Amino acid sequence: MDDLKLTSQRNLAKNNSRRHFFITLSSVAVVVAAGGALTSCGGSGTVLNGELAAFNYGIASGDPLADRVILWTHAKISTDDAIDLTWQMSADAAFSSILFTGIVRASKDTGFTAKVDATGLSANTEYFYRFVAPNNSISAVGRTRTLPVGNVAEVKLAVFSCSDYPAGYFNAYDSAVSSGAQFALHLGDYIYEYKDGVYPSAATAVAARISAPANEIVTLADYRARHAIHKADPYAKALHSRMPMIAIWDDHEFANNAYMDGAENHDPVTQGTWAARKAIASQVYHEWMPIRSPDAANLLKIYRSFDFGNLLSLHMLDTRIIGREHQPDRTVDAMGRDIADPAFLPYAFNKNKQLLGTTQQTWLDAQMTASKATWQILGNQTVMGRVQIAASVLSDNLSTASVTAYLTAKATPAALRTATQQGLMDPMKNPKISYTFDNWEGYPNARDAVFISANKLKSAGKKFLVLSGDSHNAWYNKLTLADGTVVGAEFAGMSVTSPGFESYFPPAVFPPATLAGTIKALTDDIQYIDTARRGYMLITITPTQAKGEFVYVSSITSSSYTTSVDTLTYVG
Ligand SMILES: [Fe+2]
Repeated sequence: MDDLKLTSQRNLAKNNSRRHFFITLSSVAVVVAAGGALTSCGGSGTVLNGELAAFNYGIASGDPLADRVILWTHAKISTDDAIDLTWQMSADAAFSSILFTGIVRASKDTGFTAKVDATGLSANTEYFYRFVAPNNSISAVGRTRTLPVGNVAEVKLAVFSCSDYPAGYFNAYDSAVSSGAQFALHLGDYIYEYKDGVYPSAATAVAARISAPANEIVTLADYRARHAIHKADPYAKALHSRMPMIAIWDDHEFANNAYMDGAENHDPVTQGTWAARKAIASQVYHEWMPIRSPDAANLLKIYRSFDFGNLLSLHMLDTRIIGREHQPDRTVDAMGRDIADPAFLPYAFNKNKQLLGTTQQTWLDAQMTASKATWQILGNQTVMGRVQIAASVLSDNLSTASVTAYLTAKATPAALRTATQQGLMDPMKNPKISYTFDNWEGYPNARDAVFISANKLKSAGKKFLVLSGDSHNAWYNKLTLADGTVVGAEFAGMSVTSPGFESYFPPAVFPPATLAGTIKALTDDIQYIDTARRGYMLITITPTQAKGEFVYVSSITSSSYTTSVDTLTYVG
């Protein structure tokens, strides 16, 4: 059923290519002048007073469908006057022939972002796009593409999560530019909400990576400024200009450990109502990300599907904001018991609490059932596989003594176990539990509902795959029903920059390879884990297999780096 292959290709060729699609103003201005009087396309009401509009945050595209794609930019002059931009699409980077064009406004109402849904496009086609302001200031040129239809041999996705600006350089973005990926996915934590020095600490932040604003983001201006610093990053600009992105938010686009009715890092006494903060954060997300808002009247709704012909349907979920109910922290329950207490589990949390919410779950079931594609793929925030470790080990922080005691008991035939070992193997006395309830582990019945739906796909000849972020570490997991039936697989990606397990388990004390081996030995469904490296996933889907390449960057403290790759393959 599961065909798991692991190969390592260490120290691949140094990635120095910078084949980005930036075109200087002077070089494009010649083309524009030759192509006609674009200044006349500026629309009424735009007065630039001789200024050239600045496109300080680059351009981006996103949410491709077979006949359309979102184009995005930001344009500003020294005043708050609105700017009517002419958007253009062409089959070539020189814009020798403009195939599609129109007007879109960047105004104060949207933080001077501008977004257009360019329609009428051809399927499976690459396009170049740019924005032109009155007075002929011109944006960088972006490259995008539409989704394929019909029989599709292969789709290649670059999958990112957790790009904390002060934590380091976005080398993962840069590497993906020349990876051959056709589409980018961002599974959330595109930004973080913290004030300077909190995450990461001032001691571990990269000095040159000064975020903005310095305070925790709470207001509309704060959230816009934080998104802006991420869009101004050269490697983010390069990635966005190279391929369309399909993005969903995680908690930090709002505040840490967010759920429907609050967040761990939200204080309604000092920071206003959670409803108001959610409204601001979601508004700014839709302003600054190249997302096609599924419901203009409800910006909290972002779950949506994408069909890549008959090869795959990608269902992008929201497990944070629209349906998540609160669960307690993992370490202690309301009665003061911790995870080492056998009485903890029954009282610690409600297994029936919602993560997707019933409306989204019903929608997902309908989407997966209706889709004719071979692969049903979820783009999702948090790790979905069973990452459960015995409480005796987890509560002792994976100490050598606790690990040895547990694994020795596990290896001992039941009839020969001591009373202590029998206790360690008794799921009632020493339950297996996750290191966090913030992921799907905190919502076991919601997870089972998804897995039961996935299991039903088998009879229709469909394969099930989950892509996840959030954890900052790399995982390849079997996805199983409670009885052990495998329903699919999960590739969960490491962060672009945010700290991983190595920040809790110092590599000098817990060598990553040893830690990974220990975690695999202690768990049932984890097939691969990396606990210490940053990067992104390249996911290549064909009718017969899903290949996951974990592309690790050698550094995030420098913008120079090398890459290495671990490859795993799931055949369903
Ligand atoms: Fe994160």
